[in-house]
Amino acid sequence: MTEQEFIPKPYKKTIESGSVTWESPSNIALVKYWGKKENQIPANPSISFTLSGCKTITRLSYSPKESPDDFSFEVFLEGEIKPDFKPKIETFFKRIVQYVPFIKDYHFKIETSNTFPHSSGIASSASGMSALALCLMSVEKELKGDKFETCFTQKASFLARLGSGSACRSIEGDLVVWGTHQEIENSSDLFGVKYPFEVHNNFKNYQDTILLVDKGEKQVSSTVGHGLMHNHPFAGERFKQAHENLAALINIFKTGNLEAFIDIVESEALTLHAMMMTSMPYFVLMKPNTLEIINKIWAFRKETDSKLCFTLDAGANVHLLYPEKETVLVSEFIKNELVAHCQNGQYICDQIGFGANKIV
Ligand code: PMV
Repeated sequence: MTEQEFIPKPYKKTIESGSVTWESPSNIALVKYWGKKENQIPANPSISFTLSGCKTITRLSYSPKESPDDFSFEVFLEGEIKPDFKPKIETFFKRIVQYVPFIKDYHFKIETSNTFPHSSGIASSASGMSALALCLMSVEKELKGDKFETCFTQKASFLARLGSGSACRSIEGDLVVWGTHQEIENSSDLFGVKYPFEVHNNFKNYQDTILLVDKGEKQVSSTVGHGLMHNHPFAGERFKQAHENLAALINIFKTGNLEAFIDIVESEALTLHAMMMTSMPYFVLMKPNTLEIINKIWAFRKETDSKLCFTLDAGANVHLLYPEKETVLVSEFIKNELVAHCQNGQYICDQIGFGANKIV
């Protein structure tokens, strides 16, 4: 697929007012996307687990408007109008208008809510942008009068990517690849695709418990963070490493080798942070409690034969990844040792999920 192929033919139908609702989950990258080219093209391929419980629910109401000059919309979060969300959505609309030209013909009311606390450091942009992209796709489907959903998922992912890169990995589950990789046929820089190969039972219902270490505002926005990979002294090697790590994961998923999985996932998390520490300007996004938790995980693995490991996003929170059969063991460990390092003792238990759902 090329970008051009996502430009629709003139719509067959006109539609009056209506609304549509989608819920879409967050995702957690195992091989990280960090660095991008123009038009939200990733500098390297990434792969993520789609989450299940952490999601955004978005209702998009639309009504035809007179003049198709500007975008017209309002945004609500948990019932409260949010003018400060508008610039991000305006940018999103500008990027996607050539692919969904009807967005100039309607006034939209976007009502959104999250199952997790906003600004908890859980990427609401991935779930939020993917939910909105799916709502827009449902409206377009009506306008096309399409019975069959050809390319619906692919285009939803394509649009979501233009809102927030990692959002393109939230449409489907349970493992999604985004970015061209030579060993993964049909992988694309333009949208996420379901991981196409065999996955060992060890990874079924994999658990993700998110320890909320610091719920403060992000120190660096993702846009700035990705930008710092331009002219970064280690960028070339890092992008190469991401290709190698994704290639290595293919065999790990097949064989269920959890030791090798841990090595790649933890190294990816620390590399992401190392890139931030070695950019100019430089940032340390971990907090003392992030390191306390990491050290305790390593000690716990030495003492028990647990296969618990961690990953990090561009922030201080820690995602604990572990096989389903370790749920009791790990939850004891969290309560006894880790909860003390969480802000207000807060953490969220989630697990791998299967992507977005249309509600109405
Ligand atoms: O989707 P963005 O632009 O917010 O970037 C997210 C990047 C990371 O979460 C740090 C890594 C990833 O691949 O999700």
